[in-house]
Amino acid sequence: MTNGILVTGGAGFIGGNFVLHWLGEELGPVVNLDKLTYAGNLQTLVTVQHRPDYTFVQGDICDGELVSRLLAEHKPRAIVHFAAESHVDRSILGPEAFLKTNIDGTFTLLQAARAYMATLSEEEQKEFRFLHVSTDEVYGTLEPNDPAFAETTAYAPNSPYAASKAASDFLARAWVHTYKLPVLVTNCSNNYGPYQFPEKLIPLMITHALAGKPLPIYGDGMQVRDWLFVVDHCKAIAAVLAKGRIGETYNVGGCNQRSNREVVETLCSLLDELVPDSKYKPHAQLITSVKDRPGHDRRYAIDAYKIESEIGWTPEESFETGLRKTVEWYLTNKAWVDGVTSGSYQQWVTQNYSGRNDRTEVVK
Ligand code: NAD
Ligand code: TYD
Repeated sequence: MTNGILVTGGAGFIGGNFVLHWLGEELGPVVNLDKLTYAGNLQTLVTVQHRPDYTFVQGDICDGELVSRLLAEHKPRAIVHFAAESHVDRSILGPEAFLKTNIDGTFTLLQAARAYMATLSEEEQKEFRFLHVSTDEVYGTLEPNDPAFAETTAYAPNSPYAASKAASDFLARAWVHTYKLPVLVTNCSNNYGPYQFPEKLIPLMITHALAGKPLPIYGDGMQVRDWLFVVDHCKAIAAVLAKGRIGETYNVGGCNQRSNREVVETLCSLLDELVPDSKYKPHAQLITSVKDRPGHDRRYAIDAYKIESEIGWTPEESFETGLRKTVEWYLTNKAWVDGVTSGSYQQWVTQNYSGRNDRTEVVK
């Protein structure tokens, strides 16, 4: 076994940030297995693509033969599993891909990891880890005064995305208990930061505002999310990999509960300040209410006591500092945005937003 790790989905938003963080900290070699769906983008990884300790493999996590071959060839000390279909709105319009990648794909990886572990020495088996990256959406929705999600909160997934992630978490759990696979699970709140595909709330609003397009808030915009800066999430994953107890789940959150409307208004103020000569100023005039997402979860919030007390991790960015960094990144990385928003992205925007116009109104 080597000091290297196998990352799945490392060309996506969080996986890409994680690969950059891991290599930046010189934590060991990385093999990145990614199918390069619409959400995968090698532009994120240009700064590391020629490093001798970085290998990219385009492939599907559902391809058991490929996964087994990569494990046998590269002999990683850990698998860090990000690859997933990750967007709730897409899961509502087309759930099949979510079941395939999130459930079958995780099953395939778990099985390949079992077979690989059997080839390791006893010493190596003690070191090997499988870290499964999941979401707080498996816990369902909270009322305004409910306590935040703890690791003991019962699963109650509401969207096809959340259901598929919940199923994959249960597989991970079963593989620990039944096969003694050394799995760790992290359930994280909403991430934001550089390299996020502009179908998700924050980058969508930034890119729309810069182009003078409407900023579509679903329903009343009072849904609450607990926002975490992506680099803080990457640090949490590295810390859980180093110190987490096998078979345990760790909730990861930013301690930043904000309503969607608050998030978008803050973004608009930041853009007013950072793009003072914009012809769309004040950007808040672009805010538009549109028809709500079906089954829209009202509130997510994470109780991060366990990871703080056991692992010693806490988020370093406040929402204000993280959001400013994010807006600045999108302002200085227009080429990256242009690269991902050409072609099929436009079709997605039309498909997701055209049917919502019946409730369109401009919010003063
Ligand atoms: P993303 O959609 O930006 O990236 C997913 C990556 O996985 C892409 O590079 C894609 O090409 C790849 N991929 C998809 N299907 C694949 C397959 N079958 N085989 C190989 N690669 C495949 O997602 P993200 O936002 O970076 O999320 C990463 C992980 O973190 C996911 O498991 C997600 O459920 C979880 N998560 C995300 C958030 C968030 O706010 N984005 C919050 C909590 C947890
Ligand atoms: P999103 O970024 O899709 O993450 P998730 O659904 O996984 O939490 O959405 C975050 C919140 O923003 C969610 O409550 C839905 C809302 N939203 C809008 O109001 N308008 C939009 O155009 C998008 C994409 C999301």
